[in-house]
Amino acid sequence: MKQVTINGNVHDIDVPDDMPLLWVLRDVLGMTGTKYGCGIAQCGACTVHLDGVAVRSCQTTMDSVYGQPVTTIEGVGDTPVGAKVQAAWLEKEVVQCGYCQSGQIMSAAALLNENSNPTDTDIDDAMAGNICRCGTYVRIREAIHSIAV
Ligand code: FES
Ligand code: FES
Repeated sequence: MKQVTINGNVHDIDVPDDMPLLWVLRDVLGMTGTKYGCGIAQCGACTVHLDGVAVRSCQTTMDSVYGQPVTTIEGVGDTPVGAKVQAAWLEKEVVQCGYCQSGQIMSAAALLNENSNPTDTDIDDAMAGNICRCGTYVRIREAIHSIAV
């Protein structure tokens, strides 16, 4: 049995060290806000924060997670920047089908934690790994700019 801290809550889990974090979140803990898209770190739907850094949870194995706090879409709204991102997403009506948006919000929050006033290029660079089949990229950029200070 090992412990992992997710959104400030400590969970006891007993899983293989090579199990991806995404599987632990969704299948072991029932936290289904983080989405499975490609499974090969190519779409960004599974993005979470590991010690504040955006990572693809489908390709992040548990042996590299232990000892570092995890934040998911279920908890990011409790952080100052995460709350602003979620509010901006609503105000700009970013979402269409929604499937990619957990990952989009997590990547945007990680960007804004690092850079409170990103340029279009900064945004494009930070968000390039988050694919949206609905093409919400323009509104994502608007929403991020609306939070910039
Ligand atoms: S499901 Fe992880 S990047 Fe696509
Ligand atoms: S909102 Fe549908 S895939 Fe992004």
